[in-house]
Amino acid sequence: MWTGRAPGKIILLGEHAVVYGYRAIAAAVDLCTTVTLRDRPGPTAIENSSIDDARLAAAFASIVPGEGLGISIESELPVGCGMGSSAALAVATVRALAAREGRQATFAECYEKGFALERVFHGNPSGLDHAVSAMGSPVIYRRGHPAEGLPLAKPIRLVVANTGVPGNTAELVAGVKARKPSGELLRLGALAEMAAARLAMGQPIGEFLTEAQRLLRKIGVSTPQLDDLCRAMLGAGAQGAKLAGAGGGGIVIALVDGFSEADVRDVAESIVPGRVYAITIRPAATSR
Ligand code: MEV
Repeated sequence: MWTGRAPGKIILLGEHAVVYGYRAIAAAVDLCTTVTLRDRPGPTAIENSSIDDARLAAAFASIVPGEGLGISIESELPVGCGMGSSAALAVATVRALAAREGRQATFAECYEKGFALERVFHGNPSGLDHAVSAMGSPVIYRRGHPAEGLPLAKPIRLVVANTGVPGNTAELVAGVKARKPSGELLRLGALAEMAAARLAMGQPIGEFLTEAQRLLRKIGVSTPQLDDLCRAMLGAGAQGAKLAGAGGGGIVIALVDGFSEADVRDVAESIVPGRVYAITIRPAATSR
């Protein structure tokens, strides 16, 4: 048996804009997907999966041999919640395939081959999600350019609230394309770049998150529930709050400090009970 494992991600700033060549910043999270391959006679088949998604067979057909493999998938990541479940699946699969050849997959291999699987799920992926999953650390990413490490002067503490409502990334990306909100996309990319500079100096970026949420609402990817969560978490003392990922549901992230964290968690719990947790994004050197 051969196993590959890869993490999900959280986008701090720049989702949707990154599809159009603007920068985005994101980080890997501790929730992972594990793919196990084993030899079996006959056509390749998914034998066990904790992910229930009609696109799985087509996704695997894009990178796994058609004959002779049994596939098992174990994922800690909820599907469609903006935490990169399909990207983690892509990278874990590339790693399992490399393990079957007795070697470790390189970043370039995870990135290149991961695109094939991501295209089945997302249509026109920027590459951000699986670049972050393959790096496993904070990243600044621009489509068509090598992913770079995102320097953080200090850890970032976030409260994450999951609506439990799945968003369809391909449809949301297509909707933005149809509306062509060029000014908003330009500004979303600029916020990601400015935030990257601030994070390197340990300066606050909360206001950038809140502005990004306004823009994401304007380009049509937020929902009333996501807006309510952001408003409530800001009211409870968060420094900034926005949806993270494609939107249409999925998660909200709120930047907190030691003073505001408990209140922000409590208010989010009152809206999405049992689906709130806190995470720390650490600088790359200490995060692994
Ligand atoms: C989805 O996690 C992020 C989007 O920007 C799409 C993409 O980058 O491919 C919405």
